[in-house]
Amino acid sequence: MGLSIIILAAGQGTRMHSDLPKVLQALAGRPLLAHVLDVSRALGVEDIAVVYGYGGEAVQQICGGDDLRWVLQAEQLGTGHAVQQAMPDTPDNNQVLILYGDVPLLTRETLQRLLGATQAGDVSLLTVDLDDPTAYGRIVRDNDEVIGIVEDKDATDEERKIIEINTGVMVCNASKLKTWLDDVGNDNSQGEYYLTDVVGMAVGDGISVKGIKADNWVEVMGINDKKQLAEAERALQLRLVNELMAQGVGFADPARVDIRGELLCGKDVFIDINAVFEGDVSLGDGSRIESNNLIRDSKLGTGTIVHSNCHIEGATTGSDCEIGPFARLRPGAELANNVKIGNFVEIKKSTIANGSKVNHLTYIGDAEIGTGVNVGAGTITCNYDGAAKHRTKIGADVSIGSNVNLVAPVEIGKGATIGAGSTITKDVPDGQLVLERSKQVSVPGWKRPTKKN
Ligand code: UD1
Ligand code: MG
Repeated sequence: MGLSIIILAAGQGTRMHSDLPKVLQALAGRPLLAHVLDVSRALGVEDIAVVYGYGGEAVQQICGGDDLRWVLQAEQLGTGHAVQQAMPDTPDNNQVLILYGDVPLLTRETLQRLLGATQAGDVSLLTVDLDDPTAYGRIVRDNDEVIGIVEDKDATDEERKIIEINTGVMVCNASKLKTWLDDVGNDNSQGEYYLTDVVGMAVGDGISVKGIKADNWVEVMGINDKKQLAEAERALQLRLVNELMAQGVGFADPARVDIRGELLCGKDVFIDINAVFEGDVSLGDGSRIESNNLIRDSKLGTGTIVHSNCHIEGATTGSDCEIGPFARLRPGAELANNVKIGNFVEIKKSTIANGSKVNHLTYIGDAEIGTGVNVGAGTITCNYDGAAKHRTKIGADVSIGSNVNLVAPVEIGKGATIGAGSTITKDVPDGQLVLERSKQVSVPGWKRPTKKN
């Protein structure tokens, strides 16, 4: 018996007040729907149908995968109608698992528990107890068996006191679901075709309906507005941080870190407050990230320290590098081992070999820097002539004085020394001191202008 997943994602999400369809709103840097697709794929399911409506093209473009079956629900006539749209191509013998594009925090473990508890031909619902069940469909039980779901708007005062609510997640045999959905009407307070009506029909057919309780509300929470989106964000962040802490990663404050992508950490990594990780980031053993850093799509080697307030993107470091405070590594910054990048330094598309230092107020772009080089404060690689980028090559053991312009293309031979304040436009031979300065002039008798009263 196979499994089909049907994900309802047709809603516009009016309460988001956004041009973006609800299921494309970002959670941990990825669309809500992407999280639901992740957990669906993690179940190893071959048939995943997504029922879309509002903003369908954008949704398909951003979340599309060859493994998905896209089903249009042109008009939103209710959850039962939505599921019905996906039924014709759903194999009769399959179990159907209904998920929602705006319920992104469900775990594979919970879904496996739900699926495991469902005998072939039976129906199971994922439920949860809420202190305040207002607005949700209530689970009506007769002892252990569920006998129906009653929507908040259709419930009696007595039924409204029930705290066990329907999360919407349901497992059911496909052919039975087809039959029941055909009989669902819209004679209710909202004039909608309710998926939940099939529960009463199942009970009427003598089928056992189980209510399986989720461990916590967060897992099954639906996202309707920006406040719930922010709540889900914190909940997911805490989950990610807890996983990392279980692996031994240290955090100054688990509540003040954001992981928007995949963060891989070695042993004895420590992360201080307000660190934001985006895309694929890996931190080597013993690396330390100080406060207020953004690190995107980068790989930092063993023992690397990132001091406060750096912006790092598309960069790699070897072992024992030190970056910042206030440094910017742009895509293609490749630091070898023991490299130091200091404050107010920008590095772009450049390789810097072992033990070299660029400590203050410098721009290095399109450059290749050898081992043991010291780049003085205020050095600029002038890589752009207004039309094209040119390269700067600096040999091993070069010492560059302060406030030097290196006008590319240019090559500094190994062991050379460049005097402070020089604008270097020609290649520099190995081992020599090179200066390019105008003569210092003293003007005797010169008077500084004074202000007139
Ligand atoms: C639904 C359940 C309710 C449950 C609650 C949990 C029904 C009738 N009620 O109520 O028992 O407690 O969810 O949050 O199922 N959707 C479509 N097409 C439609 C209608 C809805 O794709 O025509 C999608 C929506 O985008 C949304 C989801 O289905 O993601 C749920 O729909 P919604 O209208 O919010 O149902 P509720 O009234 O919240
Ligand atoms: Mg809802």
